[in-house]
Amino acid sequence: MPKRINVSDYRKAARKRLPHIVYDFLEGGALDEQTLASNTADLAGSPLQQRIMRDVSGIDLSTSVLGHRLRTPVLIAPMGLLSLFHPQADVHLARAAQAAGTVFVHSAWSGTPLKDVVAAAPGSVWCQAALWADPRLVDQHLERAADAGVDVLVIAGDVSVSSKRERDLHNGFTMRARPSVRGVFNAVRKPRWVSNFLFGPKITFGDQSTEGRPMTIQEMGEFMEADNDRVTWDDVRSIRERWPGKLVVKGIMSPADAQLAIDAGVDGIYISNHGGRQFDAQPSTFSALPAIAETVGDQADILVDSGIRRGSDIVKMRALGATACLIGRPAVYGAVQSGQRGAAAILDILTEELATALAFTGATSLADVGPGTLALNGTLTTAARAGSPRLMGSRR
Ligand SMILES: Cc1cc2nc3c(=O)[nH]c(=O)nc-3n(C[C@H](O)[C@H](O)[C@H](O)COP(=O)(O)O)c2cc1C
Repeated sequence: MPKRINVSDYRKAARKRLPHIVYDFLEGGALDEQTLASNTADLAGSPLQQRIMRDVSGIDLSTSVLGHRLRTPVLIAPMGLLSLFHPQADVHLARAAQAAGTVFVHSAWSGTPLKDVVAAAPGSVWCQAALWADPRLVDQHLERAADAGVDVLVIAGDVSVSSKRERDLHNGFTMRARPSVRGVFNAVRKPRWVSNFLFGPKITFGDQSTEGRPMTIQEMGEFMEADNDRVTWDDVRSIRERWPGKLVVKGIMSPADAQLAIDAGVDGIYISNHGGRQFDAQPSTFSALPAIAETVGDQADILVDSGIRRGSDIVKMRALGATACLIGRPAVYGAVQSGQRGAAAILDILTEELATALAFTGATSLADVGPGTLALNGTLTTAARAGSPRLMGSRR
């Protein structure tokens, strides 16, 4: 097996190691997966401008996000059901984030209780809350976060509607169903995953309990079907009044919603299309970013995820106004391989690639990155689209 040197290598390895229905659950997006594809395609289609003859001997990747000084602007996004991919995955990801000087966001649907994850990586864990139909559950979760000493709360903003993930439906993989015979047969051929699954800790939902014990996957499926589709910005305002720490809303994809979030008093705007897993046929986050950044200005920090697979992608997001970026699937590819070590390798790879990309653009810190860091900005891109022969010639 050749050495794994990039996110794509870890992705291929995860594909080999996981039963295909589990891999599809990780990898898949909604409907035709158009948004999933445009997340990476739009980043790839927007090159950076190389600059030469600059002293780039001292690169500083540190940045401040929501009151946290991070050594690298790559955080790990909230993901539920991570225990499906590796036992205690949340703890492994949180420890990897802590070692890299960054942050792991604990999902509202995590299998590991928030307090256990915070205890494993104190100071490096933020908490996600969902606006569940039963407001007492929201209050309990806010209390949990406060008791654990978490100071940043991320509200799940784009989950009031359930998405149709067709890979999962084809595979018979829903939280309420038992896996199909074909699925079980395929799983048996992945002995390491099966042994983790059989002999590792039972997969439950850490913080959500029923009858005094954590919910099982099936129970969680039913609980999620009763999800709250009536949430509004009033609910965000109400949480703002109750939560003394920093507040972020995740899933913002329009300048209008960014403005409403700011009016509701948030500290962070988290641009995300859920990695293409929720609403298909919407733009990539990269293309949504500039207009949102213009609206937000310096009123809030801007976080963005979806489709980041290279360090240069982080420079591109930064060029269009992001404060910092988050990764979802790539961190899981790493954890599937070797828990904390694998997740740490992914953070290292992206951080190293980021440093190199920065240096090629002539920048030595994230503060140096701006719209001019992108090649082919506004007017040139339009000219290129119009097929200017001069420009086409110069691009060869
Ligand atoms: C397996 C999986 C589970 C996820 N669970 C959640 C979740 O519980 N809450 C949430 O807000 N987003 C969830 N997401 C979306 C991520 O937070 C993030 O927005 C997305 O993965 C970023 O795209 P990327 O995977 O291309 O990096 C999940 C994503 C994956 C892959």
